[in-house]
Amino acid sequence: MENAIQQILLTEEQIAAKVKEIGAQISRDYAGKNLMMVSVLKGSVVFMADLMRAITVPCQIDFMCVSSYGSGTNSSGVVKIIKDLDINLHGLDLLIVEDILDSGKTLHYITKMLSDRGTASIRIATLLDKPERRAAPLTPDYCGFTVPDEFVVGYGLDYDEKFRNLPYIGILKPEIYLA
Ligand code: IMP
Ligand code: MG
Repeated sequence: MENAIQQILLTEEQIAAKVKEIGAQISRDYAGKNLMMVSVLKGSVVFMADLMRAITVPCQIDFMCVSSYGSGTNSSGVVKIIKDLDINLHGLDLLIVEDILDSGKTLHYITKMLSDRGTASIRIATLLDKPERRAAPLTPDYCGFTVPDEFVVGYGLDYDEKFRNLPYIGILKPEIYLA
């Protein structure tokens, strides 16, 4: 796995420190609210698992699964709902947890769909942001790191379902996805 990585972009320690910081900020912002964290599978599970434990106010969690990428590295813009949320969202303060905001097409679609269900509020927490690639009008409310326009893997992020278990975030060697 390691020899497919061109460069380590964010170490385990850097990520852990940032997750703590974002967790503290969310805890302050959501005091007295009905926080419901929604993880977008599968890329955000690692961030979700760490972030929820850095949050000190009560919260519920749920998962949804959408597909926007095949095995390529570009968003198709077509979002398919593979698993929807299980509970009634009425009056809940949703925090959508994402691994990376790239074109923004996926989250733009999800945010719109969920806001039609009577939520009290919806915000977005993303570990990584690639603002250069934005094609939909979307800004994250909480963002860990801004990253360059490179394909990154690890800490939940995959290329063709691989590399999710790397504990750090690295830039994938282009020859892997150009092959
Ligand atoms: P968007 O609709 O273009 O914003 O796509 C967002 C989704 O694409 C993310 O949740 C990831 O699953 C995937 N994605 C975008 N960029 C990368 C990357 O650099 N590495 C791994 N997955 C990525
Ligand atoms: Mg994702």
